[in-house]
Amino acid sequence: MSDRSEAAEQFVKRLIRPEIQQLSAYHVPESKGLLKADAMENPYRWPDEMKQRWLECLADVEINRYPDPHAKLVVEGLKKAMNIDPQWEVLLGNGSDEIIQMLAMAVATDGAKILAPEPGFVMYRMVATYMAMEYVSVPLAEDFGLDSELMLSAIKEHQPALIFLAQPNNPTGNLFSWETVEAVIQAAQGLVVLDEAYTAFTDADSLFLLEKYPNVVVMRTVSKVGLAGLRLGLLVGSKEWIEEIDKLRLPYNINILTQASAEFALHNYSLLEQQAANIRQSRTLFYQRLGELKGLKVRPSETNFLLVTVAAGKGKVVHQQLKARGILVKCLDGSHPRLADTLRITVGSDDDNNRIVAELSDLI
Ligand SMILES: Cc1ncc(COP(=O)(O)O)c(C=O)c1O
Repeated sequence: MSDRSEAAEQFVKRLIRPEIQQLSAYHVPESKGLLKADAMENPYRWPDEMKQRWLECLADVEINRYPDPHAKLVVEGLKKAMNIDPQWEVLLGNGSDEIIQMLAMAVATDGAKILAPEPGFVMYRMVATYMAMEYVSVPLAEDFGLDSELMLSAIKEHQPALIFLAQPNNPTGNLFSWETVEAVIQAAQGLVVLDEAYTAFTDADSLFLLEKYPNVVVMRTVSKVGLAGLRLGLLVGSKEWIEEIDKLRLPYNINILTQASAEFALHNYSLLEQQAANIRQSRTLFYQRLGELKGLKVRPSETNFLLVTVAAGKGKVVHQQLKARGILVKCLDGSHPRLADTLRITVGSDDDNNRIVAELSDLI
């Protein structure tokens, strides 16, 4: 190690907060040449004719200028595409991950806590650490529903400033019962965020809660419906909330190419909806075929992924073996005690799903 590196390390040790030094950066595995079934992406591309029209839109973009700071046309397009009542305000983030961070920044006073059920989406915990906030994780019930007793007592004890409920939940794939969701909202003195990242793959819709409760906001993303590359998430809520959170948004957080592409894609939203409908159909078939494999348990899903558990002690091995055969899925073994030997597999085209079933049936 050079003297300069050693000296830099000393500075880092002294200056960077210990909990950040202990953190591992969000890991994205190399996927070149692999069938990508690890990140809940839509497998379908756009028809050539549509790509051509998109490129024409991009050619008109004034890349030398800053983008519209409020991305008004994107907001309008999202409201229309997602049937969001005009009375609600919409704030945009560079992916919903950025919105999670803005929400935490907004409430992060000394002692403020974030609460979420687990197994759940990892960014809630990570963002709590970024903001030096305490993170309270509440175990899900046996069936991966919300354990209302545990949730209510944790809320009473910790009085969290923020509660995240992913509806449906990642990585378990299920919806929480509305009754328990509402009990949580009623018990909370803090803000409850309904994270609807998988809204395209379920009939459930949390927007009605905005009307009913003053301490609810709804978060969505276009990542799972086919626009993961854009990095665009949205927070829907009343003016009172959105105006405050908006103060934490870095200027121009939605770049000009994302804005132009999102406007274009939202004008063609029926194609994305059709693709999502195809994925839902494929999910049914994929679920059935995986369910027929002996030595594997698959859970029903309201999302575009399936959670499968293989024989005890085999999770990591099967993950590696699939990779060796050109298939990348997410290995959740080791991430939570309830997820031992569990893999999360994105639903793709029927061909991709059939290939995964064939390889799995050979392996297990
Ligand atoms: C529940 C949930 N919320 C939010 C996100 C983040 O989505 P985005 O791509 O918009 O940052 C994900 C992505 O996996 C997710 O599963």
